[in-house]
Amino acid sequence: MIKAFIFDLDGVIVDTAKYHFQAWRRMANELGFDFSEKENEQLKGVSRMDSMNLILGWGGLELSEKDKVKWASQKNDWYVEAVDNMTPKEILPGVLPLLKDLRKKGYKIGLGSSSKNAVRALRKVRILSYFNTIIDGTKTTRSKPDPQVFQMGAKRLRLTPKECIVFEDAQSGVEAALTGGFYAVGIGDPKHLGKAHLVLSSFENTTIEAIIESIS
Ligand code: BG6
Ligand code: MG
Repeated sequence: MIKAFIFDLDGVIVDTAKYHFQAWRRMANELGFDFSEKENEQLKGVSRMDSMNLILGWGGLELSEKDKVKWASQKNDWYVEAVDNMTPKEILPGVLPLLKDLRKKGYKIGLGSSSKNAVRALRKVRILSYFNTIIDGTKTTRSKPDPQVFQMGAKRLRLTPKECIVFEDAQSGVEAALTGGFYAVGIGDPKHLGKAHLVLSSFENTTIEAIIESIS
């Protein structure tokens, strides 16, 4: 029986995936190379330093640890600048009605994000109070596709993975949910998320009941 819903943040609740892309691209450009939207798909759900290493690999660049930390912090400053300009209007379509309905019907709500900026973004779009538990990049030691973030979430909610549905826009996130034994609902393109139990293009035109029905 489903008792909780665990949301990824970037690309599921808010369209911050585009801000991560823009900031990483700006860094790559300043370092003298570029990378594509297709390559960017591989960065979704992946921690800051793991993303850094992937990007440098695509550019064929090697940097010292010190320089990596410096550039990662610069990228984060650019990203945070974008986050700080967000308003509740940037909550993705259908998310707020779903959160309200989940709360009304007594389901637990969790956040499972790789980002260290998750609380900042939730606060900015004013939905922090909907979450019963928040597991983010400040609490995990392993990045998606490792299931740690969702396992910690379920544990905090005192539930088993099979009692939780995970919403994810990233290949790495769907993989993390499945490896952990959770139900996975992909939000986005079935081309990238096809392994999930269900893929929705967005939260519009769906209901909690329809989601539960189609994964079971
Ligand atoms: C994930 C994003 O949610 O968080 C990744 O999908 C990002 O793109 C990762 O790299 C880490 O985020 P942050 O904010 O800690 O750099
Ligand atoms: Mg995401």
